[in-house]
Amino acid sequence: MKPSPSALRDHLLHPEDRDLPLKAEEIFGRKAPLAVEVGFGGGEYLNWWAGEQPDWNFIGIELPLDCIFRAARHFEDSKRSNVRLVQGDARYLLRELFAAGSLRHVLMQFPMPWPKEKHAKHRVSSPGFAATLADVLEPGCSFELVTDQDWYAAETETHLSANPAFDVTPVEINPERPFRTRYETKWLEEGRQIYRLLVTLKTPAAAPRTLKIKKMETLHVKTPPTQEAIEALVGQRFEHGCGVGQVKEVFRSSDGWVVRILAADDAFSQLFHARIVVKKDGRCLLRIDEVPRPYYTAAVRQTLESISRVLQNA
Ligand SMILES: C[S@@+](CC[C@H](N)C(=O)[O-])C[C@H]1O[C@@H](n2cnc3c(N)ncnc32)[C@H](O)[C@@H]1O
Repeated sequence: MKPSPSALRDHLLHPEDRDLPLKAEEIFGRKAPLAVEVGFGGGEYLNWWAGEQPDWNFIGIELPLDCIFRAARHFEDSKRSNVRLVQGDARYLLRELFAAGSLRHVLMQFPMPWPKEKHAKHRVSSPGFAATLADVLEPGCSFELVTDQDWYAAETETHLSANPAFDVTPVEINPERPFRTRYETKWLEEGRQIYRLLVTLKTPAAAPRTLKIKKMETLHVKTPPTQEAIEALVGQRFEHGCGVGQVKEVFRSSDGWVVRILAADDAFSQLFHARIVVKKDGRCLLRIDEVPRPYYTAAVRQTLESISRVLQNA
């Protein structure tokens, strides 16, 4: 069920509209320790946690909007003012949204393990994750993983142990936990074991961010393109050093065309629209559509620049 508009207004953050890294003090209106839950599902744990520690601030990151809706309803019902939600891919956002040394705790419970090797790049705990944690955690603070997959706990332990920034505690089996998530309850009923890995940051290390600019500027195409030139864009793939972009579809609109684009920076992919607008004075503009608004990553920027070059030379 959809939460009320006020629950979304109060709890859903739109980082793409803000200067990064996020300023938690501005968002919450107070200075307090900040914790993040990655992949909070329906938000039951996050709601409980925010209630248990009212003097901390919390941000949850999830992919589907449905999870955001369910969590926002919990927060509305429980009148939580210390928790916000961000929709998107935590593999990327954890590094891009948070300032160095700004997180008191990062928690990930029952992440999707992506067991097949060909899908390994989708695992949140890929090798780059250790570098991100070494940057965003406060020194002396921890990342906690809870999972029902022993190999996943072991693999994450290996990645994090390989980084000298961390103290790694051996994986615990069936730890006592004050509140259990929906998945945890389900797995325990099926008789599965639960594994917990806790690692503490001893030596912080900077991880380079890639998102520097908040807003995409409009690009200019000197001559308005023909319908054939626009149709020829479909299927074109633009490879750049750090990523790739592909034109999926084009549609006619009242003032020009809409181009549907998939852009990926490493394994972080975004589907968005760009508008090609032909002005009355003959000028032609190329700009990102507002909905759904992508993060302005290198792959997004370079794909748009490539499209504008192709149209220019058509
Ligand atoms: C198995 S569910 C567990 C949900 C919840 N933590 C629980 O224990 O009930 C895994 C969750 O991780 C989310 N997830 C997977 N990959 C993600 C990513 N890259 N960034 C953010 N969330 C992700 C999924 O959308 C899903 O809700």
